[in-house]
Amino acid sequence: MLSKEENALISQTDRGTPMGEYFRRFWMPVLLSSELPEVDCPPVRVRLLGEDLVAFRDSNGQVGLIEANCPHRGASLFFGRNEESGIRCVYHGWKFDVEGHCVDMPSEPAESNFKHKVQATAYPCVERSGVIWTYMGPKELLAPPPEFEWARVPDSHVVVNKAIISCNWLQVMEGDFDSSHISFLHSRLPSPEERARRYDPNNPGAIFNRSDRSPQYTVIPKDYGLMVGARRNADEDKYYWRVSQWLTPFYDMIGHDPGAMAMSAHATVPMDDHHCWSWAVRWEGDRPMTAEERTQWSGEEARVPIQPGSFWPKANVTNDYLIEREMQRTKSFTGIPGIGNQDLAMTEGMGPVVDRSREHLGTSDLAIIRIRRELLQAARALQQGVEPYAAQHPEVYHIRPTSAVLPRDVPFDQSERVVETTRARA
Ligand code: FES
Ligand SMILES: [Fe+2]
Repeated sequence: MLSKEENALISQTDRGTPMGEYFRRFWMPVLLSSELPEVDCPPVRVRLLGEDLVAFRDSNGQVGLIEANCPHRGASLFFGRNEESGIRCVYHGWKFDVEGHCVDMPSEPAESNFKHKVQATAYPCVERSGVIWTYMGPKELLAPPPEFEWARVPDSHVVVNKAIISCNWLQVMEGDFDSSHISFLHSRLPSPEERARRYDPNNPGAIFNRSDRSPQYTVIPKDYGLMVGARRNADEDKYYWRVSQWLTPFYDMIGHDPGAMAMSAHATVPMDDHHCWSWAVRWEGDRPMTAEERTQWSGEEARVPIQPGSFWPKANVTNDYLIEREMQRTKSFTGIPGIGNQDLAMTEGMGPVVDRSREHLGTSDLAIIRIRRELLQAARALQQGVEPYAAQHPEVYHIRPTSAVLPRDVPFDQSERVVETTRARA
């Protein structure tokens, strides 16, 4: 439970807010490279941390991300002409390059040097693994680009999807550190006890997720954030540990069974306080994905299937997330098709910003409690001038999620298997 003041502090990310300033110390995914497929292609609207921006790819292939409203009199640069290494406002013809410099001002006399005094807000961009990233913080603190394994492997090793979610970013990310909901929200009928007897070689840990529905958390502080072990009873004398990673400020990697399926990571990036981008990544560290695997992790199989030509989810509040009550009675716990849609119904259903002063947190919420504490501390520390370490040391993010079945007396984070399998190769 948080006070109303803490809840506002942790969920608000506009410029000037403590959490907004903290987030602006880190690189963030902003677009798929495929949204700007070629030089001088049409610009794209971007909303990020409450700021309206326009992205364009200039004649040299460089991506620009600049304020949406033209510095002249505020017309939207989304309607601009993307030509000859800059975007030209169609209202009076002022033109801006990827760094926001005004490079042409044809509405002023030729001898005027007014254009040299005009600068649009512009944020630097880099491209990694088919994703365009940006940094919106102070120029003098420009952080080295992101080094998540999924952002460093060749494009052939990674599949990236994104969707717009209509609620505050934090309730979406918190769902990724709530291992207990897997045993309910994402379960099928018949009963979990019956299903527990069925072994799935593609998802060996599922048997334990179903049979033990009250996981115990152990949370280990790390330079990159938190290593989160969710412990369930396995065979006698053993525990099954699902090891997820929370990476500051809004990245995660979800505990999985190494080798059984591709690794899974998310970034939950605020568009504004009531909407966020949910980025869902699947990657292989050591090999390209097969065509079947690429299909498996994209399109209809993406975490949140989206409406064609947009990033809005097909399942949404207007269609009750496609719930079928007969399915709920006979086939699945929710009656909602697809894991991502099930999550969506829960997180959007909380309202735009859930009121955390009214919660009743239990032991299964331990990881969420710890993440909130870390975020609040980091944002307050920055207010006191303490810069986040990980932002300037992205090599700390060279990690993976994992899982392990271990003897009950072995601390999970010290087991050789966990140490070895959580080390990124790329
Ligand atoms: S508003 Fe953009 S050039 Fe005038
Ligand atoms: Fe979920």
